[in-house]
Amino acid sequence: MSENDENKTNDLIKIKIGHLIKFAHNFQGIEVHVLVSGKFIKMNYGNEQFVDILKKLQEKKLEEVYINQVDCKRIMAEIQQVISSKSATDQNKMQSSENSLEIMKAFVTQMGVTKEAIDILNTINKNTLGVLQHSQNLMDWIKRFKTQCSDEFLKSILTSYLCCRIIDQFPWSSTSIKEKSCLASVLCDINLSKEDFAALKDYEENGTQISDKLKQHPLEIIKILSARKDIVSSETIVIIEQHHERPDGSGFPYGIQGPRFNQLSTIFIVSQQFINQLVKCNFDYQQRKTILETVYEVYRGKNFDKAISALVTVVNN
Ligand SMILES: [Fe+2]
Repeated sequence: MSENDENKTNDLIKIKIGHLIKFAHNFQGIEVHVLVSGKFIKMNYGNEQFVDILKKLQEKKLEEVYINQVDCKRIMAEIQQVISSKSATDQNKMQSSENSLEIMKAFVTQMGVTKEAIDILNTINKNTLGVLQHSQNLMDWIKRFKTQCSDEFLKSILTSYLCCRIIDQFPWSSTSIKEKSCLASVLCDINLSKEDFAALKDYEENGTQISDKLKQHPLEIIKILSARKDIVSSETIVIIEQHHERPDGSGFPYGIQGPRFNQLSTIFIVSQQFINQLVKCNFDYQQRKTILETVYEVYRGKNFDKAISALVTVVNN
């Protein structure tokens, strides 16, 4: 190992070792640093294998390492190549998509959004929705992947899927508008940790309090995205801004009410809420009528009527 002469925090990106290992064959040999007593130490592989060193660090209870920003572009190109493979099995597509999303979370939150990142997120959506659409039915897809993917990842895909089906109920439906909504689904919680997801789940299901910082997470993402309005649409940004708002004003971050809801946001919100409830009842689709009633109870109101009516049509078909 060699110690850095100066603090390179600005040039280094923190990344979970587990994520590097999952794509190890693509990252082989990149410069890796560990943070020891406030100083960055560059790893020296010597004769050891890249993965073996990373695993040894994990055994020492180290969860994260640091990589150079300049390597992130190459890594994104590698990821895009892996997830664009036409020969990948459904299982491989799902696994590489979830791993890629985890890596993109680290890159986007620390480096901002780039065209390469958006391309990867769009490919992830295309792949996962493709696997879902090729499955015999929704329940078959859930059965295949619910033990292999995290609930957060499945929620994101299912929200995208439901959103697209609801949008198709409207005469203005288009591929472009569906892509913008799906992009909101993978970006809306990109800055949240596993602990944040657990706290939000408790808030949604049991009404427990969440921190003010967590309530600000839509605005933090918007700040990142607004710097690149040339590659992220205003529709995607508004959906993310409003995805935790409620028609009675009890949502966050602004507690908006009534006409300030965008139509696409209402579709996204009711989709997300339906899926949250579906996950809560362990994906038991037989309970869909009860779930619809629960969603209607919270989200009824003039601005949500069209979205809820379309949701009912989609779920009952
Ligand atoms: Fe969120």
